[in-house]
Amino acid sequence: LWQERLLPSGFVVLGAARSQLDDQQFRLRLKEGVAKFSRRSFSEKAWEKFSENVFYESVDGQVSKDFVRLKTRLESLGQLRAQTFNYLFYLAVSSSYYGDIAANLNQAGLIEKPGQGRRATYLLVEKPFGIDRASARVLNQRLREHFFEEQIFRIDHYLGKETVQNILVFRFANGIFEPLWNRNYIESIQISMAEEIGVGSRASYFDQAGILRDIVQNHLLQIMALLCIEPPISLNDPDSIRNEKVKVLRSVRKFGEAEILKGTVRAQYEEGFIFGEPVPAYRHEKGVGADSNTETYCALKLEIDNWRWSGVPIYIRAGKRLPKRITEVAVYFRRAPTALFEGRQVGEIEPNVLAIQVQPDEGISLRIESKPPGPRLRVMPVDMDFRYGSSFGALSADAYERLLLDAMNGDPTLFTRDDEIDQSWSLLDPVLEMWRDGAVKLHGYEAGTWGPSAADELLLQNGQRWRNL
Ligand SMILES: NC(=O)c1ccc[n+]([C@@H]2O[C@H](COP(=O)([O-])OP(=O)(O)OC[C@H]3O[C@@H](n4cnc5c(N)ncnc54)[C@H](OP(=O)(O)O)[C@@H]3O)[C@@H](O)[C@H]2O)c1
Repeated sequence: LWQERLLPSGFVVLGAARSQLDDQQFRLRLKEGVAKFSRRSFSEKAWEKFSENVFYESVDGQVSKDFVRLKTRLESLGQLRAQTFNYLFYLAVSSSYYGDIAANLNQAGLIEKPGQGRRATYLLVEKPFGIDRASARVLNQRLREHFFEEQIFRIDHYLGKETVQNILVFRFANGIFEPLWNRNYIESIQISMAEEIGVGSRASYFDQAGILRDIVQNHLLQIMALLCIEPPISLNDPDSIRNEKVKVLRSVRKFGEAEILKGTVRAQYEEGFIFGEPVPAYRHEKGVGADSNTETYCALKLEIDNWRWSGVPIYIRAGKRLPKRITEVAVYFRRAPTALFEGRQVGEIEPNVLAIQVQPDEGISLRIESKPPGPRLRVMPVDMDFRYGSSFGALSADAYERLLLDAMNGDPTLFTRDDEIDQSWSLLDPVLEMWRDGAVKLHGYEAGTWGPSAADELLLQNGQRWRNL
């Protein structure tokens, strides 16, 4: 952001954690991180300039007197820059600290009400937001004791990805797709998130959470909501998009016992091979209990009960230790009538599929049937392809770049509102409960494969198949 001159003039970054570091030591740590992870090649000269704006103060989020020091430091940095800063407090810590930190910020007089003080004050929090609806509500209540909803920015970094934002442009800036965007023309939708990695260093967190909480409750339901919204009234008002997303989430048919038994699949990976290398079973991963029943794969069938989507199954799957890393939305259109080709050996006529790839190569492709060259009449699918990298000659910015910038500008459009989170948990809580009680079998799947056969059967019930990713 700094290199693209997108940061406000006179900005400072003040790092705060318990470790005793001085500014210089903190800058060195950040420098290592930037050199390792930046999408640009590292420039010593640019770093020198940027790092003059970086400072550090040792603060324990649970110790209120530390916030007095934090306030003094912020004020002295303001004097140094001769300006009144807006404050964006970014809590990149476990959510168990959010409540205490918000209370301590308030007690130190660091929070100003919107429109009433000299400065804007925002709070940026990480995911996950709660582990179920009850805990999310408690967390929300604690934040709302000190902040107004419009000051709270809850990160779902998928919303910062270009392709996810492009869903809106794609639907509403093209005349040809929106008329087809409903149950009359769309047969089904698949939303898939696959990764080849296991749990790595996040085992203790993941083993408590499972993939339904970690990926589906937030990222994949957010993608579904955006994909299925009604046209918002305006793009200038952040709430009009979020109002439409909430409507979608509220319209998803509730999971009763029968839907959970028939329409959800949970599974855990066993040992296998990833890119030819042997990998252990989930239960043998470091930090995972030998008797863990946490799901590393899940598949669900949802339905949105409204006029636009009624009867269109939406299949969602997410898994670890699958053959590759990919997140994709696939919209299957209804097949064309095939009577014309009867009696001719033209090959199978496939449905048109619109595939929106969210990662790693952001892009959109449309599968259409076509005639290959030659004297025989045959039908073959081909892809019309758009890739961000090749079409725009530039790689997309990292989702966090966009989200941090929006939060600094006070634009909450791409952040999740409290009622969206509440709806997502309401939908999945009954599933989580039945899974926890062991009412739905935990399947196994070999690492490096596309998950358990039970997930294939979920689609076969409707004569469909998962897309080959
Ligand atoms: N890691 C991921 O892949 C990932 C993915 C998605 C979301 N998130 C979310 O991002 C947040 C941060 O994750 P993380 O993996 O970076 O966590 P982490 O490794 O636990 O890092 C926490 C940081 O917070 C500081 N900290 C811990 N307790 C503190 C306290 N009482 N007061 C002040 N600072 C404290 C720590 O530094 P000191 O020890 O010096 O205090 C450390 O720098 C979490 O909410 C997590 O759920 C992480």
